[in-house]
Amino acid sequence: MSNISAKIIGAGFGVPEKILTNKDLEKLVDTSDEWIKSRTGMSERHIADANTATSDLATIAALRALETAKISAEELDVIIVGTVTGDMFFPSTACFVQNNIKAVKAAAFDLSAACSGFIYGLSVAKAMIAAGEAKTILVIGADCLSKLTDWTDRNTCVLFGDGAGAVILQATEEAAGILSTYIFSDASKTHLLQVPGGGSRKPFSEEVLKDKSNYIKMEGNEIFKNAVKGMERAIDSALAKAGLKYEDVSLVIPHQANIRIIESIAKRMKLPAEKVFINLDKYGNTSSASIPIAISEAYATGRLKKGDILVITAFGGGLTMGASVIRWSI
Ligand code: ACO
Repeated sequence: MSNISAKIIGAGFGVPEKILTNKDLEKLVDTSDEWIKSRTGMSERHIADANTATSDLATIAALRALETAKISAEELDVIIVGTVTGDMFFPSTACFVQNNIKAVKAAAFDLSAACSGFIYGLSVAKAMIAAGEAKTILVIGADCLSKLTDWTDRNTCVLFGDGAGAVILQATEEAAGILSTYIFSDASKTHLLQVPGGGSRKPFSEEVLKDKSNYIKMEGNEIFKNAVKGMERAIDSALAKAGLKYEDVSLVIPHQANIRIIESIAKRMKLPAEKVFINLDKYGNTSSASIPIAISEAYATGRLKKGDILVITAFGGGLTMGASVIRWSI
């Protein structure tokens, strides 16, 4: 095995200006601020306007990450964007970002793993660096799930927000950075969370418009149970790969999908509240952006300090799941 590892040298995020509160949602569907807060922990989320696409938010996150890393876009060898709401079927959202930030040397591609897209991207980037294929990689998680949301479906429309988060990984010979990643999928459960229409299975048509199959369909309860089990397995496996225990962890950033899912994970790991990062009250579930937004906020507010052991974990449609253990190095 190579002794080159990958460390995070910068992080940033971007969200749209417009805020949608629980009170606003009360006007759209039969719900209440009280129900949303108590069942999900969410209060508000940011929603992209008609002129904003995923690459616009990803570009803001990328520029902020470059700024904190103090490097220029020309130093990037690869850009990976984890997203399921790309600007277009093709070109990739990563290509739009590449052009926006003028990363002239980079290879750019998207990665589809729903809400786990950022952790899957991190895993690929780490492996590319360890293999000597690249030295500096921009990994972005970016989604505008609001564009796939049925705003008459109270089961889903209260949950999601839009945003993007980015980190920059760089090759290092220090024993720092990404200590382990563990990703896996359970494809026997594709039906629990999907957008059935508008793809090659059921291309866009009058029928798709009529049956609203171009919107997110979700079995919330089943996703909930699988999310808890999946993230527990992912955390245990990633920690075992890194040779670490629950007691070694300084901060956990779980996918920001539901406060009750997060509390159940924290309870099992016997973690006090200050070791669990939560910002879903402000952003809702931003899909693959959820973890890199939280990483950026935790770093900017001093919740992450050099040498800290950070655990991140996510789950999403697929089902896809994963975790990573990181020794924070900036
Ligand atoms: N307001 C009021 N009532 C509601 C709402 C709402 N917004 N949504 C659902 N309800 C109702 C349901 O209709 C149901 O009513 P009924 O008993 O009369 O049928 C009742 O509330 C309870 O519904 P449950 O589904 O049992 O509620 P639960 O406590 O499980 O909470 C929730 C639902 C919040 C969706 C939860 O299951 C959850 O968070 N699941 C995980 C979802 C998730 O994380 N998805 C994202 C995956 S990641 C990705 O890839 C995008």
